[in-house]
Amino acid sequence: MPRKIIIDTDPGQDDAVAILLALASPELEVLSLTAVAGNVPLVLTERNARQIVELAGKTTPVYAGRSAPLQRKLVTAEHVHGKTGLDGIPLPAPRLPLQPQDAVDHLVDTLRSHPPGTITLCPLGPLTNIAAAFLAAPDIIPRVAEIVLMGGAYFEVGNITPAAEFNIYVDPEAAQIIFRSGVPLVVMPLDVTHKALTSRDWVEEMRALGTPVGQAVASWTDFFERYDTAKYGSAGAPLHDPCVIAYLLEPSLFTGRHINVEIETGSDLTLGMTVADWWRVTDREPNAMFIGGVDRNGFYRLLTERLGRL
Ligand code: BDR
Ligand code: CA
Repeated sequence: MPRKIIIDTDPGQDDAVAILLALASPELEVLSLTAVAGNVPLVLTERNARQIVELAGKTTPVYAGRSAPLQRKLVTAEHVHGKTGLDGIPLPAPRLPLQPQDAVDHLVDTLRSHPPGTITLCPLGPLTNIAAAFLAAPDIIPRVAEIVLMGGAYFEVGNITPAAEFNIYVDPEAAQIIFRSGVPLVVMPLDVTHKALTSRDWVEEMRALGTPVGQAVASWTDFFERYDTAKYGSAGAPLHDPCVIAYLLEPSLFTGRHINVEIETGSDLTLGMTVADWWRVTDREPNAMFIGGVDRNGFYRLLTERLGRL
């Protein structure tokens, strides 16, 4: 039986590749996409999500959730993802309608109506929608099978500030709720995503698929690589969010440690820092499988094979 997942997302070119990977994989049943404000405002992330579903030739329902973090003003990342959030090849205006229900209500209803332990949540953006659902309906928390998310950093420290990764920084109070929820967590921090760098060969392989999906993935990669290659001086760019879906498909590609991770919400200087007890120097209870390593070639082999199916 395929594993049931809900992808909570702020597309974002790397979110888009993650969504396509999930939609291409029969081991996963994507119940829905829930859009959140993050890389760009919500009106764009929900629209981008619908365009991505259509590009994959699917009809997966898309819900729109929170347009701002729980307690803060939204911080966006057009400087990385472009003004639409999905700059690259232009996609047709989506025909797939946006679901009328609010994404947070949808999360609550779906978790309540499925047997406990059968739904995995895959957040690829700020954790606002999931935290809002946990605050509104704490009874759903023990019903979540697992949360596999992209966010945080330990050795890489930060990308949006010197101390914090974007998804956690945008809504640190939401992240704190998730990390303290008691739900089994798997975290894909920058420490692993920065080992999953694109290469020219892979981008050309995508283009050579000769499909709309291959063209889109190649054009998105061309677009967002420019920011990371200029910043880090690397040959390619990290494909962050697809690590979440690849982990669900092939966990043996990844290595990590089950450790305690706390979120900084008080300090201006280190706001949104994921304080990860990688070296186990505290007696704080482990609350997350914090991933640090990836078989990079295996990861790109999986992506090529699956994206080629769409
Ligand atoms: C994360 O931030 C976003 O820009 C990407 O989509 C990814 O989810 C990386 O820090
Ligand atoms: Ca994202």
